[in-house]
Amino acid sequence: MKIIRTLYDMTEFRIRQRDLGLSVGFVPTMGALHEGHLSLVDKAVKENQVTVVSLFVNPTQFNNPEDFEKYPRTEEEDFKKLAAAGVDAVFAPLAEEIYPEGAPEPKTYELGSAAEVMEGKYRPGHFQGVARILDILFRLVDPHRAYFGEKDFQQIAVVRNLLKSEGLKVEIVACPIKRAPDGLALSSRNTRLSDEQRKLAPEIYQTLKYSVEYSKDHSVMATHDTVVERLDAIPGMRVEYFEIVDARTLQPVDEWSESDWIVGCITVFLGDVRLIDNIAYRLPN
Ligand code: PAF
Repeated sequence: MKIIRTLYDMTEFRIRQRDLGLSVGFVPTMGALHEGHLSLVDKAVKENQVTVVSLFVNPTQFNNPEDFEKYPRTEEEDFKKLAAAGVDAVFAPLAEEIYPEGAPEPKTYELGSAAEVMEGKYRPGHFQGVARILDILFRLVDPHRAYFGEKDFQQIAVVRNLLKSEGLKVEIVACPIKRAPDGLALSSRNTRLSDEQRKLAPEIYQTLKYSVEYSKDHSVMATHDTVVERLDAIPGMRVEYFEIVDARTLQPVDEWSESDWIVGCITVFLGDVRLIDNIAYRLPN
């Protein structure tokens, strides 16, 4: 497995693959890899002749500097996991390489209304930061396919809008959420939970699952409120938002009949650790 640190070396690697006419799968990550990331990597390795993974904790997508500082960094272990998974190249640049001093002011990306709700509302600037790094990475790696986890459900919709507005041709492959046996969605941030918080965290998914049953004979509003009330009642837990939305537009729905694809997206704080998850209430046939 090749470890690439510079834009120049990444471009050179990519040109070689292109000359050979090989299909390239790309998994962008911020490192601290867990089984969720590795499931994306496995799929990329199976579906492409070459797999590239990026490891970069992208400063421009963190609206909270403390969250950025505390974000787990485990580069050496990540390299070992990726080599064992059969990855061909890891792009792990320094921040100065991606955002050199004196670089022109970033542009504002056209990300549509999907970027304005939920994460867009609670983390101002977050999706512009995600768009900025993915614009750089997509142009550099120039993949045929890019793999994203559905835990970040909204991010996938925003990335599709980015591709459209930037005229980039990459097939987005959305992969199901990986969960711990007790239901907690795998996340790099889980390593920051104390033992006590880790015991409480599965309640997020258990409550979402319960709410799917509950929704069968209750309104959207009642389902929303029951989720928020149950989780807010757990000491140390605070729901930042829970929104029941049309999965295509990410705009809130008032009635179950409004769409054939409806998802509930939640963000919960356990202490200062911010966890996200989602669940489908309606799925298209
Ligand atoms: O989902 C993530 O880990 C990040 O938002 C991404 C896509 C790697 C961009 O930094």
